[in-house]
Amino acid sequence: KKVVLAYSGGLDTSVILKWLQETYRCEVVTFTADLGQGEELEPARKKAEMLGIKEIFIEDLREEFCRDFVFPMFRANALYEGQYLLGTSIARPLIAKRQIEIAKQTGADAVAHGATGKGNDQVRFELSYYALNPDIKVIAPWREWSLTSRTTLIEYAEKHQIPVAKDKRGEAPFSVDANLLHSSSEGKVLEDPWVEPEEMVYQRTISPEEAPDQATVIEIGFKKGDPVSIDGEALSPAALLTKLNALGKANGIGRLDLVENRFVGMKSRGVYETPGGTILHAAHRGIESITLDRGAAHLKDEIMPRYAELIYNGFWFAPEREMLQALIDKSQEHVEGTVRVKLYKGNATVIGRKSEKSLYSLKHVTFEDDAGAYDQRDAAGFIKLNALRLRLLKRGRG
Ligand code: ARG
Ligand code: SIN
Repeated sequence: KKVVLAYSGGLDTSVILKWLQETYRCEVVTFTADLGQGEELEPARKKAEMLGIKEIFIEDLREEFCRDFVFPMFRANALYEGQYLLGTSIARPLIAKRQIEIAKQTGADAVAHGATGKGNDQVRFELSYYALNPDIKVIAPWREWSLTSRTTLIEYAEKHQIPVAKDKRGEAPFSVDANLLHSSSEGKVLEDPWVEPEEMVYQRTISPEEAPDQATVIEIGFKKGDPVSIDGEALSPAALLTKLNALGKANGIGRLDLVENRFVGMKSRGVYETPGGTILHAAHRGIESITLDRGAAHLKDEIMPRYAELIYNGFWFAPEREMLQALIDKSQEHVEGTVRVKLYKGNATVIGRKSEKSLYSLKHVTFEDDAGAYDQRDAAGFIKLNALRLRLLKRGRG
């Protein structure tokens, strides 16, 4: 009867909009979110109006995105397969959550998205939908329709008076997803993992080769594991990430060319740009290095890959993700202080850290006179007992 569509205003979701009206004879509600993708949202409203939509939702979710999704994830230092900062993965649960809320508000019984049947995003959207409303109907046009090529899609658009930008008539060179945390590019010219991405693929960082010869040094302040200031200036979550993005961009920081394992089983090659996130990741590890106890630090590092995989696979709203989150959040109680980071030609390097809660003890670690803080003779027994089983093994087995 009524469906809430995650609508970007672009060609694909406009075709989906029309296709839903035609195929399901249903009323369509559009939902367009500003997650910091850097696109005007008003054109999406105009286009939706033109396509006969009466209920149009356009929302700025940048603060919520950073505060309730990106920052909690960064507390874990989450990386998928050792490298991917999960920029697309973390945005999907928020979009899905708002779609479900809007469905309730408008009396819609279905939701729809524009992800293909080959990727991760369909899984992330739909697991989130079902977790929040077990009875919702889900429509994934890419898995259903026969518009399987760019040409048939454009023909369909033209037949239905959907405006097609000039540059969309030819093959789009690759598929892009963007938000405040990152931009990702996949497909087309990037599909051969042996071929280096052309410079034009990168849209929000200058290349390290072109970055200034002069380093930029900044100080990031943390409270309870979250960044709260840059160079002493308190900033909201979205304002802070926006500023780190600008600093990262100017210094060529945060580029990644990765072949990864999708949840559905295939490998794919993606090019990611996460300028601010890359700085934040390094800085967060910097502040943890002096404020976390070793046992706490190593335990959270052990569960990190599991936590990252849950987010990658779309299980944000699953109990096991929430359980790990509780563990991670608990670990961040005393993660506060200031980190000094040097930004230089593609690198974000921690060069200083300080905290009222620091566990770093100069008295103990110094190679100079420690005035009896630490008795080096204690180490002999420590090593001897740790060596006992190794010595027994060698004696017994030769
Ligand atoms: N491979 C990334 C992920 O699964 C990005 C997916 C969306 N990117 C895109 N260009 N359509 O999180
Ligand atoms: C898509 O399939 O729509 C984008 C790629 C992905 O979700 O992994």
